[in-house]
Amino acid sequence: MGKGARKEKERNEAREAESGNGKPKGDVRELIAGLNEDLSWEFNAIISYRLFASMCSGPYRQELRQFFESEIPDELAHAMFLADKIVAFGGTPITGPAPVQITTDNHRMLEIALKAERDTVRRYTERAEQAAALGEVALKVRLEDLIVDETHHAEEIDRILTNWKT
Ligand SMILES: [Fe+2]
Ligand SMILES: [Fe+2]
Repeated sequence: MGKGARKEKERNEAREAESGNGKPKGDVRELIAGLNEDLSWEFNAIISYRLFASMCSGPYRQELRQFFESEIPDELAHAMFLADKIVAFGGTPITGPAPVQITTDNHRMLEIALKAERDTVRRYTERAEQAAALGEVALKVRLEDLIVDETHHAEEIDRILTNWKT
């Protein structure tokens, strides 16, 4: 192989290593898998809040219905952000929700939602660390914004459940 051809081959190899040959590299694949798990829980939150809004009952139905509905736009925005990111990283977004749990009991609805919000804060904290380790600073910062939203959701539900007389 001539000198020119060898240089060209080296340049091609360097380019392939950089771009991963169009396919996401192993650690990015892990990040995409994590973001897809997060997306499945955002779908779960959208469906859960929508169904809880319809299914809640009793003297506080109107307030609870309004509260559950008020959460949905945030969760939709999170789902949109995650789906966009997954595609930007070369992945395919998941198409369904994590298993949705329903109940006719108002208190139980709030407990289910509180657990989901707290688990979500934990997942985004892990995901932000994963993004930082890959040098994905913008993603890390946006995930921290999501942590702020989900922490607020969890705190609001916690306040509703505090002193709840069953
Ligand atoms: Fe969310
Ligand atoms: Fe939330």
